[in-house]
Amino acid sequence: MKRHLISAADLSREEAVLVLDTAEELASVAGRPIRKLPTLRGRTVVNLFYEDSTRTRTSFEAAAKRLSADVINFSAKGSSVAKGESLKDTALTLEAMGTDAIVVRHSASGAPHRLAGWVTGSVINAGDGTHEHPTQALLDAFTIRQRLGAAGGYSTSQPGPAGHSAVKGHNADLRGTGLDGVRVTIVGDILHSRVARSNVLLLSTLGAEVTLVAPPTLIPYAVASWPCKISYDLGAELGQSDVVMMLRVQHERMTAAYFPSIREYRRRYGLDADRMALLPEHAIVMHPGPMNRGVEIAAEVADSPRSSIVAQVANGVTVRMAVLYLLLGGAEETASEREALL
Ligand code: CP
Repeated sequence: MKRHLISAADLSREEAVLVLDTAEELASVAGRPIRKLPTLRGRTVVNLFYEDSTRTRTSFEAAAKRLSADVINFSAKGSSVAKGESLKDTALTLEAMGTDAIVVRHSASGAPHRLAGWVTGSVINAGDGTHEHPTQALLDAFTIRQRLGAAGGYSTSQPGPAGHSAVKGHNADLRGTGLDGVRVTIVGDILHSRVARSNVLLLSTLGAEVTLVAPPTLIPYAVASWPCKISYDLGAELGQSDVVMMLRVQHERMTAAYFPSIREYRRRYGLDADRMALLPEHAIVMHPGPMNRGVEIAAEVADSPRSSIVAQVANGVTVRMAVLYLLLGGAEETASEREALL
């Protein structure tokens, strides 16, 4: 692994599969009475959050603590940022206290990239503006592999992508496998979504076929260069999707009227029970959260057995444990040392 994780494009297929496989190994810790490993004892992880977060901040904190790292939580609100301190000075101040990794969320696209040039430790992008959110994409990929693999959803003998062979079916050992041929439909506010960009990059690296569905006003100009297809018709895509990932309408980033009304948006791009019935039997529903229930996703869909939303949150901890473990040198342990720890 490289020193930093700024973009999903930083990961080769082999590196992405290594993160998923490492998370698979670490998942066993979550089921133990004492959910701690000594792997990062003596290391310090700073959560540097300039934007609000529930899932990402808490799961990075839980992940670092489960690996026995010391954690410093920094929120821009209530700090010297309010007095005008810059990102660089804040980061250097925290690093001077002895920091091995900075997990950063910032409203400015590119902030983690700049930060990586100033500090000596690892930088992990926990969401920058409308740019990227690579650990969200990793936990989404992990969840897809787990849910579809466990259901036999894309083995050749089950409904799913024709001729699929990457995941070997029910109770198969998923380690070493990608998402070849899995059809993922990502729906909603693509324009403002760092989750969409990171997922397009990562899922395509892992072999999935990604289709974006949105009103034309919510598709970015640069999308022509992305490794995915574009559609404006949700109903037409659902019948051939193994995964449908709904995105939040990000009102807080909107500077203009991108669609006539919430009612109109929901009618054309929302996922309700009638639309969910168009999905193949094995297909799953995802949402990175936070959700606008009743806008992009109906409550009955979010709470249905097809929904992977709670599993995504749970997997966020193990996948972030894997990222911290691999970036902070855990991968340098020998296989026998790792087995002894696990
Ligand atoms: N999915 C996600 O990034 O959620 P938070 O904003 O709560 O971290």
